[in-house]
Amino acid sequence: LTGSPAHRRFWTLLLLTLLLLLLVGLLHVDVEMLTPLLGGQTEGLPITNIMFLKTHKTASSTVLNILFRFAEGHNLSVALPAGSRFHLGYPWLFMARYVEGVEQDGPQRHFNIMCNHLRFNLPEVQKVMPNDTLYFSILRNPIFQLESSFTYYRREAPAFRAAPSLDAFLAAPHTYYNQNLSNAYARNHMWFDLGFDPNAPVEESYVRARLAEVEQRFQLVLIAEHFDESMVLLRRRLRWRLDDVVSFKLNSRSQRTVTRLTPEGQERAKRWCALDWHLYQHFNRTFWASVRAELGPRRLRSEVARLRARRRELEALCLQDSAPKNKTQITDRRLQPFQSGEASIVGYNLRQGLDNETLRMCQRMVMPELQYMARLYTLQFPEKPPKNIPFLKA
Ligand SMILES: *[C@@H]1O[C@H](CO)[C@@H](O)[C@H](O)[C@H]1NC(C)=O
Ligand SMILES: *[C@@H]1O[C@H](CO)[C@@H](O)[C@H](O)[C@H]1NC(C)=O
Ligand SMILES: *[C@@H]1O[C@H](CO)[C@@H](O)[C@H](O)[C@H]1NC(C)=O
Ligand SMILES: *[C@@H]1O[C@H](CO)[C@@H](O)[C@H](O)[C@H]1NC(C)=O
Ligand SMILES: *[C@@H]1O[C@H](CO)[C@@H](O)[C@H](O)[C@H]1NC(C)=O
Ligand SMILES: *[C@@H]1O[C@H](CO)[C@@H](O)[C@H](O)[C@H]1NC(C)=O
Repeated sequence: LTGSPAHRRFWTLLLLTLLLLLLVGLLHVDVEMLTPLLGGQTEGLPITNIMFLKTHKTASSTVLNILFRFAEGHNLSVALPAGSRFHLGYPWLFMARYVEGVEQDGPQRHFNIMCNHLRFNLPEVQKVMPNDTLYFSILRNPIFQLESSFTYYRREAPAFRAAPSLDAFLAAPHTYYNQNLSNAYARNHMWFDLGFDPNAPVEESYVRARLAEVEQRFQLVLIAEHFDESMVLLRRRLRWRLDDVVSFKLNSRSQRTVTRLTPEGQERAKRWCALDWHLYQHFNRTFWASVRAELGPRRLRSEVARLRARRRELEALCLQDSAPKNKTQITDRRLQPFQSGEASIVGYNLRQGLDNETLRMCQRMVMPELQYMARLYTLQFPEKPPKNIPFLKA
């Protein structure tokens, strides 16, 4: 009975499996930790219908690069700004007609990925995105978000323009601020991007209702202060490969143009942007709750380490050196980032002598967002006039 080769194989396999399980138990090995060794792919096909609400000054340009690269690499359609525009109607509430190619005869056109700046407006977003779309966004500590906005949007926001410094602005905000739409950058900016009223009174029931709305719509809210942990969680939810979420920091300021608020200024910023502060506190909690529930500390550490190691490898492969470069130091004009306000936005130089395929891969990783958007636009709509990026012309 037990003599047939098929039976022997069966019993041997069973025994080996039991032994392995015993070993795993004895060594206290987190079974989940074995999955990266088995290919690192979580169950199911990669997710390809994605809406990323690109909040301002929150490391969202780096996320945008990740999404653009994935879209290009997988030939996915992107909901790009129509005509010569660079964003999806911001700061107006988003309308489907802001998207290129949406207006056509026949059934409504849907896109795989939507990730350019817009002010969230769910019914209109749903006209453009498939109903199985994964929604996600990213938030940053409002104190640092406001500081970054102040430098970057100094010229755009009249409230910022009028103030001698951010500390002075925060000491008496109502001296400089009115509810003009062009001051959206100056108060509860993330709250505004989510489509809510940045000047609403901070009442508990109102705040709680809005947070519940965000939670219901966005399957994932990432936290800029924990960027690498965010990428680990994102990769897991999207079921993508490691390289898909490895990125270099993009659209960041040189340290020279980063200022620090006084402790008093920081407290004032929390009060001035109280809606954003509630938003951030809430989603910082849900973020860590998700991380704990889905990964556990050991798995998290190992995945973050893998991500960082791969980033260092790609830096060594692609970049002249890993120090970001200011505008005048970037030799290839097409890789120069857009400059704004009083911020010095830094970028990268690529290493010389890369072979064509590596060069293409590296170029995509360092390509500033306006250039990348223009590139995808031309790929997707070759018959339309290309996007004109004025600062590349001069
Ligand atoms: C990419 O998609 C377009 C239509 O969206 C299709 O015409 C084209 O053949 C695709 N290319 C590849 C390489 O899959
Ligand atoms: C989602 O969209 C597909 C096709 O566009 C449709 O067949 C399906 O019924 C929709 N599902 C829901 C839950 O609305
Ligand atoms: C809002 O600001 C813009 C630009 O500074 C200005 O042209 C406009 O008159 C302002 N509107 C109101 C209602 O203050
Ligand atoms: C965010 O959550 C983490 C983990 O609980 C905590 O260490 C951190 O202080 C929180 N950040 C803020 C600004 O509250
Ligand atoms: C760029 O960096 C170089 C070297 O650090 C410095 O000399 C130069 O002033 C910087 N230029 C700008 C525009 O920041
Ligand atoms: C690399 O690209 C250049 C310019 O596009 C081209 O002339 C060259 O033939 C390419 N080399 C290979 C090996 O494909």
